[in-house]
Amino acid sequence: MAVVADRGGDDAEAIIGGLRARGWTVRRMELSGSPDVFDGATDELETALAQHLQGRVDLCVNLLDGQTWDTSVRQVAETILVAKHAVASLTKTAAAGSRAGFVTVTRLDGGLGLRGGRPAEEALAGGVGGMVKTLACESPDVFCRALDVDLGVDRDEFVAALLGEIADAATDTTEVGIDIDGVRWTVVPGSYRHATAHRDEIGSGVPDIGLGADDVLVVTGGARGVTALCVRALAQHTQAEFVLLGRTELADEPSWVQGVADDGLKAAAIEEIKARGERPTPREVERRSRDQIAQREIRATVDAVRQAGAQARYIAVDVTDDDAVASALAPLRDRITGVVHGAGVLADAHLTDKTGDEIDRVFRTKLTGLRTILEVTDADALRHLVLFTSVAGLLGNAGQADYAAANEALCRLAASWKRRHPECHVTAIDWGAWDGGMVTPQLREVFHARGVRLLEPEVGAQAFVEQFGSDRADDVCVLVGEDKSLTAGDEALAASFTAHRDIAPLAGDPVLGAHVVGEHAVLPATFGIGWMIHVVERANPGRRVVEARDFQVYKGILFDGSLGGGQHVAVEPAGDATVKVSVRTDTGGALPVLHYAATLVLSASSVDAPVFTRSYPLGEGPENGLDIYRNAVLFHGPLLQGLRRVLHHSDDRLVLECRLTDTPVGSGAYRGELHSPVLADLLLQGPSVHGNRLLGQASLPLGFGRAEYFAALPGDEPFVLIVDDVRQAPAAITVTATACDRRGTVLQRWHDIEMVATPEMSEKFHEGTRRWSGE
Ligand SMILES: NC(=O)c1ccc[n+]([C@@H]2O[C@H](COP(=O)([O-])OP(=O)(O)OC[C@H]3O[C@@H](n4cnc5c(N)ncnc54)[C@H](OP(=O)(O)O)[C@@H]3O)[C@@H](O)[C@H]2O)c1
Repeated sequence: MAVVADRGGDDAEAIIGGLRARGWTVRRMELSGSPDVFDGATDELETALAQHLQGRVDLCVNLLDGQTWDTSVRQVAETILVAKHAVASLTKTAAAGSRAGFVTVTRLDGGLGLRGGRPAEEALAGGVGGMVKTLACESPDVFCRALDVDLGVDRDEFVAALLGEIADAATDTTEVGIDIDGVRWTVVPGSYRHATAHRDEIGSGVPDIGLGADDVLVVTGGARGVTALCVRALAQHTQAEFVLLGRTELADEPSWVQGVADDGLKAAAIEEIKARGERPTPREVERRSRDQIAQREIRATVDAVRQAGAQARYIAVDVTDDDAVASALAPLRDRITGVVHGAGVLADAHLTDKTGDEIDRVFRTKLTGLRTILEVTDADALRHLVLFTSVAGLLGNAGQADYAAANEALCRLAASWKRRHPECHVTAIDWGAWDGGMVTPQLREVFHARGVRLLEPEVGAQAFVEQFGSDRADDVCVLVGEDKSLTAGDEALAASFTAHRDIAPLAGDPVLGAHVVGEHAVLPATFGIGWMIHVVERANPGRRVVEARDFQVYKGILFDGSLGGGQHVAVEPAGDATVKVSVRTDTGGALPVLHYAATLVLSASSVDAPVFTRSYPLGEGPENGLDIYRNAVLFHGPLLQGLRRVLHHSDDRLVLECRLTDTPVGSGAYRGELHSPVLADLLLQGPSVHGNRLLGQASLPLGFGRAEYFAALPGDEPFVLIVDDVRQAPAAITVTATACDRRGTVLQRWHDIEMVATPEMSEKFHEGTRRWSGE
């Protein structure tokens, strides 16, 4: 059962048609009756959603097509509520062992709105991605995906793309964009580093921030919290005028407050209330003391800015009140050259408990608040637009679906604004969690316990200043802080599933061309194991394969033109951290052909690497390893020729120096975090060389007993391969291959590798060698 939530239109009809053609039963929820502006009153809507989403639901598709600021924002808010009411049914479906999916669909720029291809009011809908990522954190059993297909993509292709996405086995990719050329994109936090990454580096370089005494910077939320810290730091480098906005009314300190330290304010408030003959309630005491602390913080910020040599004024105004903002900023309208939008509120609750009112509060401050400010600003005069966004939006965060969506909407708005105002410096700063502001002492403890490193206030503030530098002018969206999810990832392994893939197109890959045995390319066994590792890791985000057991090649895959049917990988959990995996070719009716099988062990953390008992220094002088390939001891072509030097060779041990470029292949679909299908081939080439010595014949791998992965093999860097623990049978040998770095630390160790010799293989090796060497 698929439920489609939409607002009418041809795209929705096409999606429903496409799903039905694939055998889905579809229930449609048309949400077009809602008013344009989302105001948090959601009783009627929620009653309807609860009705539509009860019973079995396997898939919930949400189509967003907002054309105006209000409709885009409303649709994102409604999608949060759809998720709220869909979660129970979807989780039930997942618990019963079936796939349950929640998918959102937008038609922006094929880049999730981050390319800036659509106007700001449409791009805001891309914020729904923040909600989808949050759902993935809260309900890891549910397949979650935010899909954006370029508006120019033809409707049939659009539907085909959606049907492809809902069947994707990878659950580590929550956002996918499909551009006009059909290329798939996703968002990957980069390893962006500010010049200042540590407190002791502050002051090492002050950028030319391009803000003079004529500049007027409106900073929402700028008198308190982390935005105030940023303002203070920026004021050190400019004489600009800062106009700080906040809701807190500022008045002279009453006498009961004067001379009292912050931690004594509650006691003073109690005395003051009593002195007026009233009964102090905890709520009133808290309110009064908090209000006085807020006022102190505002005064301190204004004083600090002035002392630094800049100008500052504070205006008490609620940024969601457009009339109040308009009258407060009217006198400044022609002078405003910069806006920093730091105002934000939280209303945390898991999706199942979210209320329309909470969503409204969060959206109002972040989104309506910005629109209100932009409306009283001359967009053409604006030289800086800086938006405070969050890692909670970038990665999703349990309890913050609305906050994540609002922040992501701001990122998309930034991209759109930059495209339309290229001369304006537009930046959405995805802050990691600060040690301050909204991060209360309790939250700080939670983050510490999860190993999230908090952003030191001085470092964050300095990063903000650096962001005004001319070298940062084109940063439209930056992450400052750790790119670490704030949600603990302790989910169970994905349930059983099957992932389909057609590998026929791989036949033309140059690396496969270097693996021709006889006449045809053969899929290296390391691609077979890598294929399984890749599928399993992508379906279990945050974990990687650290061990593979009982890997068997049942029937190698030969690219001789007869490969039909398409292949599939079947994955079945076999314990807390273990899965059984197999690769088969569908034969259309008859039993599928089994190619490979293994048991894989996953872990969220790395495993300590042992050190090899004896170290083998790297060799010097000319390399002699290439003779192995030239003499047809092995058949591999240049892209796989990584055995560089024989460091030692006796009947019970072969030691080789290896170095090979890790050529990308199959868009990464055959690699794991610690497994490179190309470099790992060397761990099987070594045993083959040793097999040749002991058996006098060419040999190929049948499988291995156990592979331990401690670290990735290095591309283009030497490492040592030791083949030992040799057991010989008449036409086979069994060995262990250990790859170590130059200090002897074990990177990977593959035990009980079985190599078998067959007489006709030697001729095929020669044929393969003649092919690549052109002889
Ligand atoms: N702290 C973090 O770790 C962190 C991480 C990521 C992103 N951020 C972002 O950074 C910004 C500041 O966060 P913070 O931690 O400093 O929060 P905070 O301590 O709660 O400060 C929020 C500020 O916004 C103002 N504000 C809230 N609603 C307003 C409204 N309707 N009109 C005018 N001003 C309003 C508040 O002043 P009044 O109460 O006086 O109105 C206050 O100055 C937020 O946008 C937040 O999303 C913070």
